[in-house]
Amino acid sequence: MTDKTATLSLNGSDNSYPVLEGSVGPDVVDIRKLYGQTGAFTYDPGFTSTASCQSAITYIDGDEGILLHRGYPIDQLAQHSNFMEVAYLLLHGDLPSGDELKEFDYTISRHTMVHEQLAAFYRGFRRDAHPMAIMCGVVGALSSFYHDSTDITDPQQRLIASHRLIAKMPTIAAMAHKYSIGQPFLYPDNSLSYTGNFLRMTFGVPAEPYVVNPIVEKAMDRIFILHADHEQNASTSTVRLAGSSGANPFACIAAGIACLWGPAHGGANEAALNMLREIGDVKRIPEYIARAKDKNDPFRLMGFGHRVYKNFDPRAKVMKQTADEVLKELNLTDPVLDVAKELEHIALNDPYFIEKKLYPNVDFYSGVILNAIGFPTEMFTALFALARTVGWVAQWNEMISDPEQKIGRPRQLYVGATQRDYIPVGER
Ligand code: CMC
Repeated sequence: MTDKTATLSLNGSDNSYPVLEGSVGPDVVDIRKLYGQTGAFTYDPGFTSTASCQSAITYIDGDEGILLHRGYPIDQLAQHSNFMEVAYLLLHGDLPSGDELKEFDYTISRHTMVHEQLAAFYRGFRRDAHPMAIMCGVVGALSSFYHDSTDITDPQQRLIASHRLIAKMPTIAAMAHKYSIGQPFLYPDNSLSYTGNFLRMTFGVPAEPYVVNPIVEKAMDRIFILHADHEQNASTSTVRLAGSSGANPFACIAAGIACLWGPAHGGANEAALNMLREIGDVKRIPEYIARAKDKNDPFRLMGFGHRVYKNFDPRAKVMKQTADEVLKELNLTDPVLDVAKELEHIALNDPYFIEKKLYPNVDFYSGVILNAIGFPTEMFTALFALARTVGWVAQWNEMISDPEQKIGRPRQLYVGATQRDYIPVGER
């Protein structure tokens, strides 16, 4: 809290509101007493100016293109850390010691299997079901298997549920892929890393040993780091809102997965690669740029623009570099990468994109890497969900432990009919 106050004049009277100051970032006007004092609400669809909670997990400066997890810059984490370490950091607040990391890794690996009966759920889905449809259903269904970790008032149960979700998500995502291609599910192999295990469950078959390619493992792990958390984005806010009613953690994460699926959010990685493929040739880029600028055309450049970043998304920078590295190291060429680079170049020099501060986001280059690794496009958003689970559970835990937490219940500006009397159908 600062000494600063903000004054609002309404209906002839002035009311002061305290101004809260975070450790870094914009001041926040605390309007919790506004309705009680004035009878008025604030109006902010899409929460463009509204902080919904306090958080000490992730900080973004969208104007400067800065992303920090617990204070650590994302590029440093992507360069030097690994996904398990970042998961620990997000959950616990500090980087682990060597022993803490070993223990955390061990704990997560001991939760990688799913209840055998869960496999039966998959058979209820059509073979061509989208993996995100399967993920929503199967993750929600975890609530019915792990009753011993759904008491949200018990910190130990919350921790176990968090570990379970982080550990089981690769198994669940890999099973969704296996189901769609008609191959048998593979059980986890806990001798592998978190990421190596996921690759094996996705691309291995029981008939042959699977050797994890260290280049692919490293790239995949980095992609997981880049997607691990992003403060109060739509899906995280959904998880918090669902959790604010006291819903169990598995149900809350299923809600987050549903929200992530949309093309304006996590679904953009799939949409971006589909768009790049549709463009197909650098010669066709101007046509798509013109469409993106046309107010009468709903088309948008997928993987471009962001609510918070009005500068380069720092994750996109790392992603672009990783795309180059992976293709080079795997000795692959992909014309889609050339289209992506040229599209970025043209857009960043176009007055429309400059004025609106539209830059490539995390989803612009990720598809190129995931495609090179061998994932079908439908799996892209499921991979995002897998990685973001860490952020979701960290934010959910933070919310439950916050003494100021209340059930999320926005108000509205009502513009419908005022009270009127019912008229029987024959008289209408
Ligand atoms: N292509 C063309 N025009 C765009 C784009 C785009 N990708 N993004 C925004 N604009 C325009 C938009 O038409 C609007 O113009 P005007 O002011 O003339 O009406 C202006 O820029 C502001 O857009 P907005 O929709 O009001 O901004 P927002 O903050 O509500 O939306 C966004 C952010 C990410 C939903 C949007 O930029 C978008 O739809 N991008 C494409 C989808 C995408 O890549 N999403 C992934 C986001 S990053 C990963 C994640 O969060 O999951």
